[in-house]
Amino acid sequence: MKTIIEITYLVSSVFFIFGIKKLSSPKTARQGNMFAAIGMALAIIVTLIDQDVLTYEWILIGAIIGSTIGVIMAVKIPMTGMPQMVGLLNGFGGGASLLVALSEFYKIMNFPAWNHDVKTDISIIVSILIGAVTFTGSLIAFGKLQGLVTGRVVKYPGQHAINALLVFLIVAGGAYTVIYPGNELLILAIAAISLLLGVLLVLPIGGADMPVAISLLNSYSGLAAAATGFVLENNELIIAGALVGASGIILTLIMCRGMNRSLLNVLVGGWASAGSGGPAPEGSTPKGDVKSVDAEELAMIFDSVSTVIIIPGYGMAVAQAQHAVRDLVNVLEKKGIKVRFAIHPVAGRMPGHMNVLLAEANVSYDKLFAMEDINDDFNNTDIAFIVGANDVVNPAARHDQSSPIFGMPILNADYAKTVVINKRSMNVGYAGIENELFFYPNTLMYFGDAKDAISKLTNELKNL
Ligand code: TAP
Repeated sequence: MKTIIEITYLVSSVFFIFGIKKLSSPKTARQGNMFAAIGMALAIIVTLIDQDVLTYEWILIGAIIGSTIGVIMAVKIPMTGMPQMVGLLNGFGGGASLLVALSEFYKIMNFPAWNHDVKTDISIIVSILIGAVTFTGSLIAFGKLQGLVTGRVVKYPGQHAINALLVFLIVAGGAYTVIYPGNELLILAIAAISLLLGVLLVLPIGGADMPVAISLLNSYSGLAAAATGFVLENNELIIAGALVGASGIILTLIMCRGMNRSLLNVLVGGWASAGSGGPAPEGSTPKGDVKSVDAEELAMIFDSVSTVIIIPGYGMAVAQAQHAVRDLVNVLEKKGIKVRFAIHPVAGRMPGHMNVLLAEANVSYDKLFAMEDINDDFNNTDIAFIVGANDVVNPAARHDQSSPIFGMPILNADYAKTVVINKRSMNVGYAGIENELFFYPNTLMYFGDAKDAISKLTNELKNL
């Protein structure tokens, strides 16, 4: 029986690995999700058979309540609320690891004859530490994105010294419990300090930097699960936790690279604290006049061109304009115009944000191009049509060494013959800085909410 269980765990892990592999392309992502779900189903079934389950009733009750909440959340959450939902789910993962580690501690304490060794004791401490930090850190991240907790960068005197002291207390307390096991008060104190540490580590991070923090917390939740795997001596949990831990940290680094920022810069609160959609920063002066167009004029311009690259950004997600954008593409293509999408790796507020929205609107994958695959084509393009994007097309990133986004790779929209920017106003984006592209001679501003403005443009085009 033991061998069958271990082999099934191995098979399930292979499903996880292939699932992750398939998630790396929009074409195979749904299949990847399915693979991972099959792997998880196998793991759950085998675990229920494997472990000495005393009663199935509580497991069933928990599964029904959990699944109901999960389904309601998944159906109700808007696309723009996805980062905080992921944050909350990471928190639950960390919380689960914390509870399992604590219950394992009580099991050992109440049944001294229970076989445990130093490795288990260390794993319990690590699981409590990472699980608790992930739990409260993720709740704060959720609160920041949901507007329940201040989204500002929070700084206070002795911040780093206090965090270092808390880490020291946890490590010292943990070492003591490993040497002299069974001290209930100490274990609870370690858990409480770790919970506090989670709050203090995430509270200082600006709300706008939360997606990166959430990705890091996702990695922590995997590490917590892996530590719990050592506590329970469950190989599946160790493998799955390590996969989440590793993929979470890789994603975090990719996001940081896409924004040209170091992880440390994000964690200690950097430039993004200005938040999105606010007015231009004080003291900044507009760099000249902008030319704006209305739907009718723009339709005539579009009607006369042969190539268009659409650059979607956060504003498309806010306006939920992806369906309107698809309708526009259909009309343009009927007129014989070649339309492609250029996707910046950090457009929007979470990895793959634009790909998911466009897939939801049934935009075919072969029209979507990653930045490195399309950036050289802007020179030969008639119109770069920017829909609710801002920072990812700001040329200051190339040449203005004083700009906070200097060095961030951007889409070469400004190299197109004509640049059309759709947004509601002259307001700044996530980085809180003015965009010089708005004032370029080849730029036309098309003001309005993306969904309304693009629908109007499509109607005008149909009438031509
Ligand atoms: P942003 O630079 O944030 O600009 C979005 C623009 O959308 C705003 O300037 C806003 O201007 C416009 N907008 C908002 N609502 C709109 C609506 N209803 N209709 C039309 N436009 C609307 O977005 P971006 O270019 O996608 O860049 C993403 C930024 O987020 C980058 O700085 C990136 O580093 C950061 N970031 C991304 C991630 C990931 S993983 N994607 C994670 C963390 C941070 P108006 O207010 O004038 O309309």
